[in-house]
Amino acid sequence: AGWRLIALGAVDSTQTEALRALDVRANLDLWPTGVLVIQAAEQLGGRGRHGRTWASPPGNLYMTAAIPCPDGPRHGPEVGFVAGVAAARALGDAGVRGARLKWPNDVLVEGAKVAGLLPESVTDSLGRWWILLGLGINVAHAPPAGETLYPAVALADRPGGGPAPTVPALLSALLGRLCEGLALWRSDGFPPIRAAWLSHGHGVGEPVRVRLGAETITGVFQGLAPDGALHLRESESGRERVVLAGDVFFPGT
Ligand code: BTN
Repeated sequence: AGWRLIALGAVDSTQTEALRALDVRANLDLWPTGVLVIQAAEQLGGRGRHGRTWASPPGNLYMTAAIPCPDGPRHGPEVGFVAGVAAARALGDAGVRGARLKWPNDVLVEGAKVAGLLPESVTDSLGRWWILLGLGINVAHAPPAGETLYPAVALADRPGGGPAPTVPALLSALLGRLCEGLALWRSDGFPPIRAAWLSHGHGVGEPVRVRLGAETITGVFQGLAPDGALHLRESESGRERVVLAGDVFFPGT
């Protein structure tokens, strides 16, 4: 059923716009294999993971891809990993070397966050499940130091990084890579996506600290569980743990 791209100016959040657009008659035919992409020039109420805000001034890339999930939300989180791999590869296509993925799906360049992903499961008014895959890339601007949990950088500000790619160049690389990744995921399932994620994964085999609400656990990052959860070995007990959601920190940050 193909792709539809809607480019907007200032919006509250592309996630909200995408949810609204799913119920617009012209977009109903995207089910079950098409993708609806909403891009905005700026967001006034940009959202990050765990209810945080995502600063969204003009100059960066803000988009949401609405992806049909005919099997329901069960495999939804896998789409986040498809998108992480697509984002790392798209940055490479656009001339940004060395993008790494920080679990679950932040994109780092030289150890600082350049992009974040927000996969959310929703239903439309016909009761069909979609993943709203939100992606923000800091092209021209990064949030001020101290306002983020983890160091952040804009592509334009990388030390010795050369000129930043433009937003349209990044968007076009991203849509190509996302299309490729979704096709592979639909035909072969999660295993090849997991393998591709691990090949770009940051900190595999290294010490890691994970904040889960009030609890913090430390251990060694072992890799991804078969469903994409974070697998670690706790330092104190030697116990293997699998973490479904949390904030991850590596040494030096
Ligand atoms: C994170 O790292 O916390 C995820 C950030 C996701 C930001 C993007 S920008 C486009 C889309 N619309 C939003 O309101 N959030 C996502």
